[in-house]
Amino acid sequence: MLRFLTAGESHGPGLTVIVEGLPAAVPVDRAVIDADLRRRQGGYGRGGRMKIEKDTVEILSGVRHGLTLGSPVSFLVRNRDHENWSDVMSPDPQPDEARLRRRLHHPRPGHADLAGALKYDTTDLRNVLERASARETTARVAAGALARGLLREAGVEVRSHVVRIAGAALAPGTSVTWDALDAVEASPVRCVDPEVGAAMVAEIDRARKDGDSVGGEVEVVVRGAPAGLGSYTHWDRRIDGRFAQALMSIHAVKAVALGSGFEAGATRGSAFHDEILWSSAEGLERPTNRAGGIEGGVTNGEPIRARAVVKPIPTLLIPLRSVDLVTHEERKASVERSDTCVVPAAGVVAEAMVAWVLADALLEKLGGDSLGEVLDHLRATRQRQAALLSAEPPAPE
Ligand SMILES: Cc1cc2nc3c(=O)[nH]c(=O)nc-3n(C[C@H](O)[C@H](O)[C@H](O)COP(=O)(O)O)c2cc1C
Repeated sequence: MLRFLTAGESHGPGLTVIVEGLPAAVPVDRAVIDADLRRRQGGYGRGGRMKIEKDTVEILSGVRHGLTLGSPVSFLVRNRDHENWSDVMSPDPQPDEARLRRRLHHPRPGHADLAGALKYDTTDLRNVLERASARETTARVAAGALARGLLREAGVEVRSHVVRIAGAALAPGTSVTWDALDAVEASPVRCVDPEVGAAMVAEIDRARKDGDSVGGEVEVVVRGAPAGLGSYTHWDRRIDGRFAQALMSIHAVKAVALGSGFEAGATRGSAFHDEILWSSAEGLERPTNRAGGIEGGVTNGEPIRARAVVKPIPTLLIPLRSVDLVTHEERKASVERSDTCVVPAAGVVAEAMVAWVLADALLEKLGGDSLGEVLDHLRATRQRQAALLSAEPPAPE
């Protein structure tokens, strides 16, 4: 239903996004999109590049007077750093000095450098790393902000927090409440617990001092998502699979789990599955939510919880060994200006990807060319689900 396409290199003129499939009349507020872009640029542990870039979105199409038109929405986010790279990144042929100045031949272990060189048949790693860079996630956050605009109207909210940075983590099994997430944006590492947050900051400081990097884990939490999104009828319609793909596609994410998925292999069924209870006051109740709001590839109406593990970023100030692809001599891996820890920022990108999948699944379930139609269909769906569950028990024979 929904599609988005991004283009742009890390040091090129900017990033562009085209979003297709949003209904008409969805509110779009540039300040809200910019606020998400700012959150992506923040977090303790970021490097010099994020001090240069102050991302803001320019809306090029598809929005008029603060509302979508139903036509493709396109955005531009300019790279301020481009002014220092205009000849190196020029689309036009350049003299040797500019052509060779930022050329790289020694790939960074853990980056796309070597795999990209082999794939695209080049020893000029600049051609690879410019697009492989996570600068691209700026465009995803802008697209995600549009999806969030639709979700907000449908009463669905998406937030995230940092669970772990290296050895500093929330206690295993901690289930963070929605209200506790209010504290996240005031924390330099986006952690709900100030003490654990301070330990995370210390982990980053230690890694930076050692010229190293650290990874961690984030959790995205969604409230208000209706039951019935996704489907068990085909592998590619399962919403758990769609979340996993979207989250795993984020640079440096190496593992994804829904609910308590990371613990599932070590737990007995009786301690893992969420019982289904009934009370006349509340109707259906699930006392636990280890499934993370999804059973059988379909949302079940409980809050959605998805976790993603982020590896330590590959650019190290004290670099690992590598090889010059041209001379085959041993070299230290190249050092681009780099972050030490991107886990807090990865959480913001993860929110955007989860919002995107949800908005897509919502439109797939409900249909509608305008926001009004979508919301009418949502009301009807909610009424049918409520009626299904409130059916009178059959009279005794
Ligand atoms: C928001 C964000 C910022 C990142 N910044 C850097 C960085 O400054 N330096 C770096 O080496 N990797 C950084 N990464 C990770 C790399 O982009 C990523 O490891 C690389 O593209 C290889 O992809 P893979 O780890 O998914 O295999 C960042 C990732 C994210 C999500």
